Amino acid sequence: MGLYAVLFVSLLSLLLGFVHNTTSTSSCRCFPGDLCWPTPEDWDAFNSTLGGKLVATIPIASVCHYDNFEAYDEEACAALRDIWFFPETHIVWPSSIMAPFFTNNSCNPFLPANVSCTLGNYVSYSVNASDAEDYQKTMHFTRRHNIRLVVKNTGHDYNGKSTGAGAVSIWTHNMKDIEMQTYSSSYYNGKAVKMGAGVEVHELYEFADAHDVIAVGGNCPSVGVVGGYTQGGGHGPLASKFGLGSDQVLEWEVVTAAGNILTASPNEHADLYWALCGGGGGTYAAVVSLTAKVHPALTVSAANMSFPNTGDNADQFWEVVGTFHASLPDMVDAGVSVIWLTTPDGFTLMPATAPDLTKAEIDDLMAPTLDKLEEYEIQYTYFSDEFPTYLDSYHAVNTPWNVSDHQLGGRFIPRTLIDDNNESFLATVRNMVDGGALFSGVAFNVTDAVPSPDTVAAHPLWRESIMHAVVGTGYSYTDEQINIEEQLTITNELLPQLEALTPGGGAYLNEGDWRQPNFKEVFYGSHYDSLNAIKARYDPEDRFYALTGVGSDRWAQREDGRLCRV
Ligand SMILES: Cc1cc2nc3c(=O)[nH]c(=O)nc-3n(C[C@H](O)[C@H](O)[C@H](O)COP(=O)(O)OP(=O)(O)OC[C@H]3O[C@@H](n4cnc5c(N)ncnc54)[C@H](O)[C@@H]3O)c2cc1C
Ligand SMILES: *[C@@H]1O[C@H](CO)[C@@H](O)[C@H](O)[C@H]1NC(C)=O
Ligand SMILES: *[C@@H]1O[C@H](CO)[C@@H](O)[C@H](O)[C@H]1NC(C)=O
Ligand SMILES: *[C@@H]1O[C@H](CO)[C@@H](O)[C@H](O)[C@H]1NC(C)=O
Ligand SMILES: *[C@@H]1O[C@H](CO)[C@@H](O)[C@H](O)[C@H]1NC(C)=O
Ligand SMILES: *[C@@H]1O[C@H](CO)[C@@H](O)[C@H](O)[C@H]1NC(C)=O
Ligand SMILES: *[C@@H]1O[C@H](CO)[C@@H](O)[C@H](O)[C@H]1NC(C)=O
Ligand SMILES: *[C@@H]1O[C@H](CO)[C@@H](O)[C@H](O)[C@H]1NC(C)=O
Ligand SMILES: *[C@@H]1O[C@H](CO)[C@@H](O)[C@H](O)[C@H]1NC(C)=O
Repeated sequence: MGLYAVLFVSLLSLLLGFVHNTTSTSSCRCFPGDLCWPTPEDWDAFNSTLGGKLVATIPIASVCHYDNFEAYDEEACAALRDIWFFPETHIVWPSSIMAPFFTNNSCNPFLPANVSCTLGNYVSYSVNASDAEDYQKTMHFTRRHNIRLVVKNTGHDYNGKSTGAGAVSIWTHNMKDIEMQTYSSSYYNGKAVKMGAGVEVHELYEFADAHDVIAVGGNCPSVGVVGGYTQGGGHGPLASKFGLGSDQVLEWEVVTAAGNILTASPNEHADLYWALCGGGGGTYAAVVSLTAKVHPALTVSAANMSFPNTGDNADQFWEVVGTFHASLPDMVDAGVSVIWLTTPDGFTLMPATAPDLTKAEIDDLMAPTLDKLEEYEIQYTYFSDEFPTYLDSYHAVNTPWNVSDHQLGGRFIPRTLIDDNNESFLATVRNMVDGGALFSGVAFNVTDAVPSPDTVAAHPLWRESIMHAVVGTGYSYTDEQINIEEQLTITNELLPQLEALTPGGGAYLNEGDWRQPNFKEVFYGSHYDSLNAIKARYDPEDRFYALTGVGSDRWAQREDGRLCRV
């Protein structure tokens, strides 16, 4: 090729690149490699304004691969493999997330070392945030350069909402401030806890215990209270007694997409306050802190139980499970919250938490199930006790939670289904589990925790439900094809069985199928349109995007990860 030809081709590609770039700024987020992508000098300047808190992504498993990051270290990789399933491993790594599907298997310790380690779906940069100003600077920079914005707290989100290719993430994990307050307002007078965006469930429980109060959080100790949990609704061991996480909120301190610091409460920016109380994480604004009600300390009883399905006793096994299901209305009405797992191998109650009840009372509520086990002479373990504090109970019976190596889908189960048609519910669970799926349930009564189902944005069907049912299938760290098939099994085979029992029903947006058809109705119910209008008010440019979040249907992620308007 002659010199002119080379020049011509270069010019042409420059022009094409420019055209492409223009298109991408109007309809797509700017992506690494685009002309619009900030220069190294831009990133350095951004880092300086942040006082050095900008972290360029190195995938957590780069030590397990030869190429790209020059980090290969066989010993470090083996050590990482050993701790991979502990949430803490990923929580402290700025870009790491736990929902395996959304890591796209682009770099993990179970793949051979000679497979490429790439960023895949991981963010490009994280801002190790410590205050509202760090949020504001990140908002301004990402907006000016049209870069995708993500908020990551712990990275627990099952739908991959805390990651995104080509994104800059506000990483909130290190914002651990927590304090007691005596809150006074027209809507609440009493004790409250104000906590920073990075506070985890166990930290809140420990802090509350040290101050002789009880705070509401989830089952898993390392879920972030202020992030996806409370913003998504939030169930837990105290739900039947005190309601959902979203029902405890007094005020939010946020930074909006435009970079303004606001307080959202029932009296100020009440629409935003409402949306953040259960309308989904990473969608309306970036939360700096949450102030939540706390409750006077109580004694707490708790019970756990397990019994096997050996195959030989299958009919009797399922009858016991049916008896357990039928006992749930009495349990939740007595203030008990219940979490359990039914697998092809057996049943595990993990646990039932009974605030303000005695051991004798929880034993009574468990008696129908225990009597059936005795009657059928099925071997089982049962443990119950009364504890002086909620924290003691939590420490004694909460099961350790690993990173989920499953994919999942979910469905709310209305109280009426268990009251009127427990047989068909049982038959459906049995059919799914016999087919190899995992079934996990959480049972609660949160009907009277709020004056009306519309008091907060959390799906109104929480208030009519006795249970959130979750179904799980397997995940492979080495074979993407299996993962796609297993996830389709959830969408096309498992959830339709629960949907058939619950027409017009819903699901918990934090523990649902990311491919859920009609996600607007299923995850948000009658609140969707109001939530969408509130998002338009506070985030008119859709700076916040989260898969299955409100407004997310206006965007699609392309094969290479680029986020574009549809
Ligand atoms: C093992 C395990 C156990 C669980 N147990 C429970 C349970 O008992 N009860 C329950 O209700 N749920 C439970 N969940 C679901 C959990 O509530 C969700 O995964 C939730 O999204 C986690 O929130 P996070 O902030 O910790 O995680 P992240 O993945 O970091 O964030 C989740 C979402 O919230 C957004 N977000 C985070 N921080 C902020 C912020 N400061 N401002 C704005 N947006 C933010 C993120 O952008 C993302 O969209 C569990 C999940 C797992 C994996
Ligand atoms: C930001 O600055 C800090 C401190 O100077 C440095 O350690 C870090 O590597 C920088 N980040 C990036 C992405 O350059
Ligand atoms: C939990 O994770 C740890 C660390 O990866 C692992 O050793 C352990 O086997 C896991 N436990 C279960 C029940 O999966
Ligand atoms: C990696 O190594 C294995 C065996 O050592 C080989 O079979 C495979 O082809 C290699 N893969 C790549 C991507 O080089
Ligand atoms: C995820 O993996 C698929 C299959 O390997 C690939 O085609 C796709 O580009 C990847 N996505 C990202 C964002 O890396
Ligand atoms: C993030 O900032 C905290 C201080 O807030 C610091 O202790 C920690 O080392 C930083 N982490 C990374 C990965 O930069
Ligand atoms: C389940 O429902 C059936 C039919 O409505 C009823 O006869 C039975 O008593 C219920 N089971 C239990 C354990 O309550
Ligand atoms: C129940 O809790 C007790 C007390 O902590 C514990 O020893 C036991 O292993 C637990 N059993 C189950 C089935 O979780
Ligand atoms: C919750 O309890 C109240 C009062 O006991 C009852 O009226 C309501 O039906 C229960 N709701 C659910 C969903 O179990």
